[in-house]
Amino acid sequence: MIHNKKILVTGATSGIGLALCDFLIKQECSVIAVGRDQSKIENLVKKSDDKLKFLSFDLIDFLNYFKIFDEMLAGEKFDGFVHCAGIEETLPLTMYNPENVKRIFDINVFSGIELLRHFSKKKYSNDGASVVFLSSVMGDLGQPGKIGYCATKSAILGIVRSSALELAKRRFRVNAISPGVVNTPMTQKLFSQIEDDNIQRIKEMHPLGIGEVDDVVPVITFLLSDSSKWITGQNIKVDGGYSIQ
Ligand SMILES: NC(=O)c1ccc[n+]([C@@H]2O[C@H](COP(=O)([O-])OP(=O)(O)OC[C@H]3O[C@@H](n4cnc5c(N)ncnc54)[C@H](OP(=O)(O)O)[C@@H]3O)[C@@H](O)[C@H]2O)c1
Repeated sequence: MIHNKKILVTGATSGIGLALCDFLIKQECSVIAVGRDQSKIENLVKKSDDKLKFLSFDLIDFLNYFKIFDEMLAGEKFDGFVHCAGIEETLPLTMYNPENVKRIFDINVFSGIELLRHFSKKKYSNDGASVVFLSSVMGDLGQPGKIGYCATKSAILGIVRSSALELAKRRFRVNAISPGVVNTPMTQKLFSQIEDDNIQRIKEMHPLGIGEVDDVVPVITFLLSDSSKWITGQNIKVDGGYSIQ
């Protein structure tokens, strides 16, 4: 069960992260939620009865992560961390340069490592804590125009395997989930930029149709819970059958 755990969620203002926060507070968890645009999480903060504390914070601000761990946590310890923050972009190879590759790595990968580095300190987390990274089916598969995104999502799988071994001595578990296309603002933005027949093609590539946030959140919460206490270093695909073809 997941009741009463203290969980750090990034990407908390939108899509999968926002739905996860909503679920966690219903389970009486206390949540420290990180995102940039407070207006998107305001309603949830109001109805959370102080169970959810929101920090408006840009994760590229690597030198100020102490705000999450010292100021927000205020001496308590986390039981879980879910890195939902992420950016997606489609660019032809000719348009890649070190700056835009670094930008996507900063959010999808480097912020995850830096958060995990802080999180894994004994003063900030309880033994047996659980960490979940959002990878993607694109971490295993390719798609034209997705060199940056695919590279970051593959990198996450390496982080998960390596840190799972390193942190097992504290009985930490570190896992990834890899969704297919899920109906969130990230996907809505993508769909607004492509032709209808392309959207149809993407939908048809998912034998069970594209997913909703409710298809993904229960898998994350299973990994956060003690029911998965012998699972670590794994990548669970949650993709309506996308990747089995
Ligand atoms: N949706 C899909 O189809 C899909 C599929 C596979 C994997 N995923 C992965 O699942 C995760 C969540 O996706 P989603 O669809 O829920 O995305 P989303 O709706 O676009 O939400 C992205 C979140 O990341 C936060 N974020 C982005 N840049 C940030 C920064 N610099 N500092 C702090 N927060 C930042 C955003 O905060 P603000 O809005 O407040 O800036 C937002 O809360 C991502 O890692 C994504 O790659 C999604």
